[in-house]
Amino acid sequence: MIKKCLFPAAGYGTRFLPATKAVPKEMLPILTKPLLQYGVEEALAAGIDIMAIVTGRGKRSIEDHFDNAFELESQLSGTAKESYLKEIKTVIESATFTYVRQRQMLGLGNAILTGEHLIGDEPFAVILADDLCDYDNKSVLSQMKEIYNKYQCSIIAIEEIPMDKTSNYGVISGYLVDKTNDTYRVTNMVEKPEPKNAPSNMAIIGRYILTPDIFNILENIKPDKNGEIQITDALNIQAKEGKVIAYKFDGKRFDC
Ligand code: G1P
Repeated sequence: MIKKCLFPAAGYGTRFLPATKAVPKEMLPILTKPLLQYGVEEALAAGIDIMAIVTGRGKRSIEDHFDNAFELESQLSGTAKESYLKEIKTVIESATFTYVRQRQMLGLGNAILTGEHLIGDEPFAVILADDLCDYDNKSVLSQMKEIYNKYQCSIIAIEEIPMDKTSNYGVISGYLVDKTNDTYRVTNMVEKPEPKNAPSNMAIIGRYILTPDIFNILENIKPDKNGEIQITDALNIQAKEGKVIAYKFDGKRFDC
């Protein structure tokens, strides 16, 4: 059973400055809804109702968003505008939100490791909210849960990208294990390779199901040349033991 979803949300959102100077990137809206709320709704749609959010300095609005807002609620109560709060109230009432702060920006792998105490010794999902995934029937995480139930190992979502974009992604190589649902056994993973060094054009997107042994592995991963601990490097160690499945999901991803 996957009960918890971890959301790394500590980054500076540098590429969106100045918008992200005082507003967390995860709170930037698509239409009227912040990115992170889309992620939480995707987790809920997959039957996951404990959210483990790794935040950092300047991210308090995330906690406020997923909490009651008594003054606002009482102002709008009984007016026609009350309905505007309905959707977020449903989300708040459907989930439990837990938080931990990452004190230093040391990469995605370190952010996930920071969430260890919120997760414990059980398999868990990870959503990178800036990869917004649209879908027809089943949320991407629901699809991945089914793959996890079959293989009982770490699962990563992938998509094919143009070869000249490999340096923006973790890139995998692997062999097809099931044609009907597009799953691959991963044999190698490289974080943001130049096209000439990329093992394929199959890129990791921001949806993972991880087995809890990943935490021990992360503790021993050496930082990369930028001083960051990469989840891709930790997963590569699982992959060398045949314990990572990549899944070409159904749906459309938007890089936010
Ligand atoms: C992260 C991961 C990368 C993955 C990407 C998906 O990179 O490190 O492997 O392909 O998310 O969005 P980031 O975009 O945070 O630099």
